[in-house]
Amino acid sequence: MVSEQDVLGALGTVAGPDGKTPLPQSGAIAGLSIKDDKVYLSIAIDPQQAATAEPMRVAAETAVRKLSGVANALVSLTAEKPAAPPPAPPKPQAPRSIAIPGIARVIAVSSGKGGVGKSTTSVNLALALSKLGWKIGILDADIYGPSLPRLLGLSGQPESEGRFMKPLEAFGVKAISIGFMVDEEDPMIWRGPMVMAAVQQLLRDVAWGELDCLVVDMPPGTGDAQLTLAQNVPLAGAVVVSTPQDLALIDARRGITMFNKVDVPVLGIVENMSYFLCPHCGGRSDIFAHGGARAEAERLGVPFLGEVPLHMTIRERADSGKPVVISEPDSAYAKIYMDIAGQIKEMLEKGQQRVAPKIVIE
Ligand SMILES: Nc1ncnc2c1ncn2[C@@H]1O[C@H](COP(=O)(O)OP(=O)(O)O)[C@@H](O)[C@H]1O
Ligand SMILES: [Mg+2]
Repeated sequence: MVSEQDVLGALGTVAGPDGKTPLPQSGAIAGLSIKDDKVYLSIAIDPQQAATAEPMRVAAETAVRKLSGVANALVSLTAEKPAAPPPAPPKPQAPRSIAIPGIARVIAVSSGKGGVGKSTTSVNLALALSKLGWKIGILDADIYGPSLPRLLGLSGQPESEGRFMKPLEAFGVKAISIGFMVDEEDPMIWRGPMVMAAVQQLLRDVAWGELDCLVVDMPPGTGDAQLTLAQNVPLAGAVVVSTPQDLALIDARRGITMFNKVDVPVLGIVENMSYFLCPHCGGRSDIFAHGGARAEAERLGVPFLGEVPLHMTIRERADSGKPVVISEPDSAYAKIYMDIAGQIKEMLEKGQQRVAPKIVIE
């Protein structure tokens, strides 16, 4: 069967919307899906470019169809804004503008797919922000794999306080998980509206008290459920977690496109499992040709926040309910999370939504 990589390889010969950057690097690929021998691809374009984009669309289709194992390819162009400005009716004020009393800001930690370390990153960043002096809450909205109870060593049900639910607390951080609302053993089919209802409840029916920041561990992916969430939660910004492999980066790009779509500023990309640190010799191996996320962030014009190594200690501490930021505060890993948290805090305090990527000369 044809793979995403094959398709991207073929698309490398097609110039993207700017007429020179190859499509896979152009950041314009908004979606790619492969069903048996059919390939569906959507390319995001500026509506002004609609006329000139058609040859690009045709070239992309031709290139993909030439691949062996591809019976048909369908490439569509998507414009994010309507081409003619005035006729669009004024957007109804989305509920996302409804602030949550007591909570100064909400940020999302998201990833294009599961297993990239989104929850580990969320929890360590939340704890790091707390160590920097902020009052922090964490909302685990990952319907597919709520992991906050394990990561923070929490168990038990939240108590109620009138019509509110009391968050649990660990290491000075308040926490609530969607895992408390559903039986983990019960496989559930979550549809967008159900996810939204559950998350709204966790956002608004929890006695969070005063928080400087609520960190939301989003469900992985960029489908409808995630889009609805990104749209309906009053987000001050989003952090995208990616591993360095190319395929994970496609997902990261989708995540950034998603947040752009709903006008949520992307605070930056974190490259997790960036390189391997050997627990025996301390040697470093760049298993996945690390640095992909940094390059991608630069290309997309979003800040690159930092690289977290793949290390046993990070996994062990996370899985035993004592994340490194707490259990090994002086370790190099804790410092990485502290540094990333510092950047996020600064951006949020400045209210500056987009800062230029840090230029590092190596
Ligand atoms: N930097 C890292 N080094 C080692 N293990 C990690 C790292 N980040 C995450 N892990 C481990 O990888 C697994 C998946 O991470 P998790 O945070 O649950 O991912 P996600 O929330 O994206 O599904 C967990 O067992 C976690 O402990
Ligand atoms: Mg998770």
